[in-house]
Order: sequence, then structure tokens, then C-alpha cells
Amino acid sequence: MKDFIGSDEIINKKKQYLFPCSHHFYKNPPQLVRGEMQYLYDNTGKKYIDFFAGVSVVNCGHCNPVIVDATINQLKQLQHTTTIYLTQPMVELAEKMSTILPGNLNHSFFCCSGSEANEGALLLARLYTGKKEFIALEGGLHGRTHLTMSGTGIDMWRVDPYISDSFHFIPNVHSHEHTLEKAAKLSIKALKKLLKQKAKDIAAFIVEPIQGNGGIITPPDWYFEEVKKLLTKHNVLMIVDEVQTGFARTGKMFAIEHYNVVPDIMTVAKALGNGIPIAAFCTNDTIAASFNKPSASTLGGNPVACETALAVINYIEKNNLSLRANELGKSLKAGLNNLKEKYPIIHDIRGIGLMMGAELLTKDNSPASEETDIILELLKDNGIILGKNGINRNVLAFQPPLVITQGDIDNVIDCLDNVLSKIDY
Ligand SMILES: Cc1ncc(COP(=O)(O)O)c(C=O)c1O
Repeated sequence: MKDFIGSDEIINKKKQYLFPCSHHFYKNPPQLVRGEMQYLYDNTGKKYIDFFAGVSVVNCGHCNPVIVDATINQLKQLQHTTTIYLTQPMVELAEKMSTILPGNLNHSFFCCSGSEANEGALLLARLYTGKKEFIALEGGLHGRTHLTMSGTGIDMWRVDPYISDSFHFIPNVHSHEHTLEKAAKLSIKALKKLLKQKAKDIAAFIVEPIQGNGGIITPPDWYFEEVKKLLTKHNVLMIVDEVQTGFARTGKMFAIEHYNVVPDIMTVAKALGNGIPIAAFCTNDTIAASFNKPSASTLGGNPVACETALAVINYIEKNNLSLRANELGKSLKAGLNNLKEKYPIIHDIRGIGLMMGAELLTKDNSPASEETDIILELLKDNGIILGKNGINRNVLAFQPPLVITQGDIDNVIDCLDNVLSKIDY
């Protein structure tokens, strides 16, 4: 076993050897050294309930022994060949994906990150339509590469000084001036107007079914049907980014299934590998046929990642994690709504399944960003790792591994109750 160098030394080495852009949560961050399903442990042996799952990644739990076994077995057998040679796990995963993807989506291109999957999806839309431009939603996040960053509608994640001008943004379905219904109607109105003027240049609309980084923004149930109707009318594709929402998190295998819509292209990453890097963009026969010039990702579809992903999907199905996320999500939401009644700092509770957000506002209705950080720190001191998101970084994010128990939820609600009672705002 390695000697643990401790948090201070890690921070020193980060400063010395990484880039200053690499921030971490907490004033006093623990050194995390071990994971076991829904629990994490630091270098002092302290145990934490992980309620963020490494940003919706470890849906099946940290170091899940069933999945780790599949990874290690393949690792010992054949680790890498690249896609110019034939291996079985990649096609088996693609076949399995076709059974769980919505509607007629049945082709997958495997790569290594959500950004890469979205970049590929945007390229595919250009290849199929022959058009260059895109639509994206304000408050959305799609990645860190040039195009995906350009399609990201959150200022803090748009650091490229030469951002691409290929994107048109339409208003988010959430604003503080309007109800969700009204904001969504205004969003549709703007989409209609834009399509009328520019559809001949627009290849696709890329959108998260539920915005994660944007602050767990859950559109009304009619929104995506309206969007799809309009896009189809104008020959514009719909790319649904399921990087954060996918693989049972919201109580269905994919969040877009709550909205009765089959996208033209869908992207997945994060939870597909449960911590092993794997991602994909997926589409139907017709659109897949347009990507016929040679292309490949060196590590995309490697046997280890694919065997892991197969084990992940099988684990989700066998243990019915969708149902679990649905049921435990309801209990979590009820607990959070009780706290909302008690503590006016909680302005809104939103989300589906185990993708839940609590937006915090101060007494003068401004974002309670500092208070959010204080709450996260106190929760961490009490053994609970929670996330945060939102364009003002004032939304507590509850996105635990889907293997949590009712007891874990009760613990988190009790502890949050205790912490909120100490917050001055
Ligand atoms: C919705 C969404 N899309 C894309 C990405 C980018 O994924 P990655 O960090 O794997 O490149 C993220 C990352 O948080 C995300 O939440």
C-alpha cells in the first residue's frame, strides 16, 4: 500500500505540476483514498456517504466488485488493439446498447469522454445535413473541446477567447422572472423564430434533457415533443446529451424517455464506464450511413472499457437500478421538500429520480453562493459528500450512486437539517 501524502501536499503538488485551472471543492479537502459502493474513505479512515458519485459517474457504486471483476478479467486477457483490428467486446457492447437506446437508435461510435462524444455528434450532424451551424440552450454544458465549449451556455465554462460562432443560443426553460411553463413557452417561441430565419444553415439542436451543471433544470413534460416537432419540420436534427443523465439516474435508462421523444443522435459517457473512461455517440441507420469516410478513436472501444460497460449495463438491469432511482428519488424529494418548508434559504427543489437539486437564495433573493459552500463544507465535516452546480454555483446537487439505501437518504436529510439550522443568511 502506498503511503498517503495528505491533502496539503497534494495541493502543493497540484500548484507545482498541474494547471491553475484545476480547482477543488472545500477549504479543508480530504484526501480520498478508497471507495466501496456508496461510501468513500479518506486517508485518516474517515467514512463519507458519497452523494455526488463523481458527477453522476459511479451509478453502480465505487469499485463495485461485479464490475471490477469484469474489468480485471479483460485487463488480464487483452487490454488494447485499436479499432483497425477485430475484437469482440466492442461489437457486443454496441449490440447491447442498441437494445437499451431509445427507438431506432442502433449504431454507436465509442470514444473516451463526454466532450469527445458530443464533438463527434456535432460532426455527424454536419456530415448528414451538410449544414454548419447549431442551436444550444442557455445554461447547457456540452464539453471542453472547441465546438462543445462553444455550445456551452454557461459563461464560466467558455474560456476559449476564440469561441466558435457556429452556435445560436435560445433562452433556457428556467428563469427567475417566469414560471417553468412560461419560460419553456418563451424558449419554444425563440426556437420557432430562429428556425424560421436560419434553418437552412442549422444542422442540429444539442440539448441536455435535464441540465446538470446548469442547476438541475427539468423542462416541463411537453417541452421536448414541441422541440422535436419544430426541428423535424425544418430538417434540423436533435442531439440529446445524456452524458450526465444517462444509465438509470432519473428512474429510466435515459432521461429523454420521460419526454416521449426519440432523438436523432444521442451521446453518453460518465456512468457507462462507472469510472472507466468510455463514451459514445449513437444514432439510427440513416444518419449513421452518412459517416462513411474513415475515422477512429485510438482508445475508443478498447476491450477493457467495453467489457466494463457491458458489466455496468447488465448490473443496472439485473438490480433494477431505474426502479430504485425512481423510488428512492421520491423519498429524497419528499425529505428535501420538508426542509424547504422549514428553511427559507431553500428556494426550489427540482429534478427527477436521483438527480435532484436544491437552489439556495438569500433573503434578498440573490444566489446564496457563499452559503452553499459553507453548507458543503459542514456536510463534508459530518461525513457527507454533496455536489454543487447552477450558473451561480448556488444549487446543492444530490446525485448519489444508485445503490444508496433509504438509511443513507435519512442520514443526509437529518444532517442537512442540522447544518441548515446553523446557517446565517
Ligand atoms: C451534460 C454534459 N455533457 C458533456 C460533459 C463533458 O463530459 P467530459 O467531462 O467527460 O468530457 C459533461 C461533463 O460534466 C456534462 O455534464
